[in-house]
Order: sequence, then C-alpha cells, then structure tokens
Amino acid sequence: MESTKSKPRDSTGSDLSEQIKAATKDSHVRAENTQLMLNHQKGQITQTQYKLLLCSLYEIYRALEEELDRNADHPAVQPVYFPQELARLESLELDLEHFFGPHWRKRVTVPAATHRYTQRLREIGKNSPDLLVAHAYTRYLGDLSGGQVLGKITQKSLGLSGIKGIAFFSFPGVTSPNKFKQLYRGRMNSIELTEQQRQEVLDEATRAFEFNIEVFDDLQKMLSITEEASSEKRNDTASQSQSRTFSNSPILQFALGVGITLATVGMGVYAF
Ligand code: HEM
Repeated sequence: MESTKSKPRDSTGSDLSEQIKAATKDSHVRAENTQLMLNHQKGQITQTQYKLLLCSLYEIYRALEEELDRNADHPAVQPVYFPQELARLESLELDLEHFFGPHWRKRVTVPAATHRYTQRLREIGKNSPDLLVAHAYTRYLGDLSGGQVLGKITQKSLGLSGIKGIAFFSFPGVTSPNKFKQLYRGRMNSIELTEQQRQEVLDEATRAFEFNIEVFDDLQKMLSITEEASSEKRNDTASQSQSRTFSNSPILQFALGVGITLATVGMGVYAF
C-alpha cells in the first residue's frame, strides 16, 4: 500500500519547522551549555581553541555541502537548497588560511567525533537524502541565530579586525537573518514527507545536535589537555628555555597539544 504523504502545511502547529524546533529544544539547551559554547559565549575563547573549532567546522561543512550539492535536485533537498545565501565552505577556507597560512590544508586536524559526524553526513547523502534537511537546519539556522552573536564575541575576544578570521559568521547573501529564517522555515514546511519520513527527520535533527555536542566535548578534551600540557611546561623550570620556545610559537603549541592529546586520550585525531 502506498503511504500517505502528509500535508505540506497546516495551521495546527504540525509544520515541520515547528516540530523540529520542539523536538530539538532540550538538545539545544545541552549544546548551548557545553563547556566550549559556554566559554565562547563568555568571550573566553583563545586563538588555539578557535582554530581547532574552525578545523572541525571545515570538515563538517565540506561533507554537508558536498552532499547537498550532489542531491540538489532531490525533492526533499531542493526547497532548502540555498548555496548562494548559506554555503560556509569558502568562508571557512578563508578563515583557515588567515590563521594557518597558505598550507592550511595540511594543518586541518579533527577529533574522532567530527569524523563520526562527517561519516553520517556522507551516509545519508548517499542513502537517505530526505534526512539532509535535518542537518542543514541544525547548522544553518544555528549559524543565523546564536552564531551571529558568537561571531561578534569572537572578533572582540581575539582582537580581529573586519571580516578576517571570522568570515564563517558572515552571510553577505542574507540581508536579514530573521526574514531569511522565516523563508527557510516555509521551505522546510513545503517538503512532502510521509509520517514515517517526518519522524525520521525529527530523529535525525536530534542526532545532528548530538553530533555537535560530541564534537564540542571532544574539542574541549583536546583543549584541556593542551592547556594542562602548556601549564606543566611553564612550571617545569628544568626546561624553561624550551617552554618559552613553544609558547612563543602558536603553531608549535597547537601541534604539541594535538600530539599530546592523541597520545593521552587515545580518542583518535584525524589530520586531512
Ligand atoms: C553559544 C551557544 C548558542 C547560543 C547562545 C544560541 C542561541 C540561539 C538563539 C537565541 C536562538 C533563537 C533565535 C530565534 O528564535 O530566532 C537559536 C536558535 C537556533 N539554534 Fe542556537 N545557540 C547556540 C548554540 C547552538 C548550537 C551549537 C546549535 C546547533 C549545532 C544551534 C542551533 C540552533 C538552531 C537550529 C536554531 C533555530 C531554532 C528554530 O527557530 O527552529 N544553536 N539559538
């Protein structure tokens, strides 16, 4: 028997955009309250922390946007396909180049959680493109909401000028984030889904938040160990001169931290 497609829109609060917001409400609170996001909101993000976050965002958006591009004509992707307005990959490339220089590609390092997240994106892009909307919603509407505040905080905390290093937060193709979010919600609501597909999208959105939380937690673990290592080094009087060399070189400090994390946590770090 053919399954019944649900009505694209109605006025009883059963629009996909409303359901997805309700379904991910608790996850949103948890994501906001991860240590990394709390520090970020308080303006306590260091350049090392931000660079590590950018590396993970780069791999996440590379997977998300390649899968959206590949499925651009799919009926559940086409209504929410806005590469001109939303695509983040090029801005992340600019930010990474700003911080790491022209050979930034060799410096992209991510924890295991980021790798699991991108694997999931590749898998659904290949086998269940209906679910891509859940991931696009989670990232892009987040970037257009709290992300806008985080951009300003990052700029101030790191003393950056203009758009350099914070291109990720800037959406030149979106004049009003609020109006664009309304348009996006309307497009989400126009996607025809069976009840089963709709439930799968809602479950996938919760999963998308979970992936983000796991990435933030893994990054926080890497960073805590990096900071501990730096502070141990500073306290080690026997190796004072070496310590100064590391703390004077952000790139060495970054590599040192990641290396120590690999050895200590054993959680898997992927360099691309
Ligand atoms: C510092 C952490 C965060 C803050 C302060 C924050 C803040 C906000 C605020 C104020 C809104 C409401 C905007 C509105 O109603 O127009 C919002 C919406 C949203 N946020 Fe966040 N957020 C944070 C982290 C995240 C994270 C980590 C994600 C996902 C990865 C996320 C995903 C979303 C989504 C998808 C929406 C749209 C909800 C909807 O209208 O359906 N947020 N956020």
